[in-house]
Amino acid sequence: MKKNINGKTKIIGVIGKNIENSLSPLFHNQIILKYSLNFCYLPFQVAETDLSKAIQGIKALNIRGVNITFPYKEKAIKFLDEVEESARRIGAVNTIVNNKGILTGYNTDVIGFKKSLQENGKFIIKKKKAVILGAGGAARAVVYALLEEEIEEICIFNRTLEKAKIIKQNLSSFFPKSRISVFPLEEEDLKDKIEKAHLLVNTTSLGMPPRVDNTPLPDEKLFHPDLLVYDLIYHPVRTLFLRQAEKARAKIINGLPMLVYQGIESFHLWTGLKPEGKEVLKMIKRIT
Ligand code: ATR
Repeated sequence: MKKNINGKTKIIGVIGKNIENSLSPLFHNQIILKYSLNFCYLPFQVAETDLSKAIQGIKALNIRGVNITFPYKEKAIKFLDEVEESARRIGAVNTIVNNKGILTGYNTDVIGFKKSLQENGKFIIKKKKAVILGAGGAARAVVYALLEEEIEEICIFNRTLEKAKIIKQNLSSFFPKSRISVFPLEEEDLKDKIEKAHLLVNTTSLGMPPRVDNTPLPDEKLFHPDLLVYDLIYHPVRTLFLRQAEKARAKIINGLPMLVYQGIESFHLWTGLKPEGKEVLKMIKRIT
């Protein structure tokens, strides 16, 4: 990739803990090149103990903005000056914009998830039933997106039940048309709830490198052909979770479309430009 950097180049980037496999730098820099913008997108690998300093550094270094990724989407909030309303309700941000020294947090995962379901899954959320695996920052955005579109029921399964309970507590009063229930990540309840579900989403990190043989579901027999199975992970392209779902003839989506659609929204917040989603997705598939 050829790029000219000069004294006026605006810096954007991503802050995360393990971002060696992140596609965001490649993806954003390709869009920057395509639009001939004087921006540069950089990876910032940050240890948890340095998160506060790193976010303060956005101001100090006059960085235009950053994405926030695993596992800082919730932790970053307390270091910001302002948080957009839906991101505040969700309790997680994936994007920070620096406006003349004021840092504002947004959550573009919500629109990224919705668009990918619509465009790639041809899935209508209203009145459907979903099972969500995990209750971290990514799960919060997924749950919020489904609630905004009036899903009938969401069952959240998480190893740490308390975290699922907090999501329910924080969001259910805003969305009285939908039902949220929470369970520990155990087979008995999973079987019953997945049987009745239309959508199954993995928001946990199980299946990411180096443990690519990991999967959040205890038994592959839990998949069925009437499910849309969605894994937020995009590296590897097909996790064990998705390969098993495919074997059970379920329709599958990996995390790439969501990465692209949320990225486009973040890019828009930093630059004012909004590239066409399908075109960017094609480009990313070509270069990865
Ligand atoms: P993100 O911001 O990407 O959602 P996160 O907030 O750290 O990241 O959430 C990670 C999710 O993966 C959590 O639901 C976590 O479960 P816990 O809440 O019990 O920690 C889940 N997860 C990570 N490792 C796991 C494991 N070995 N078994 C089960 N769940 C796991």
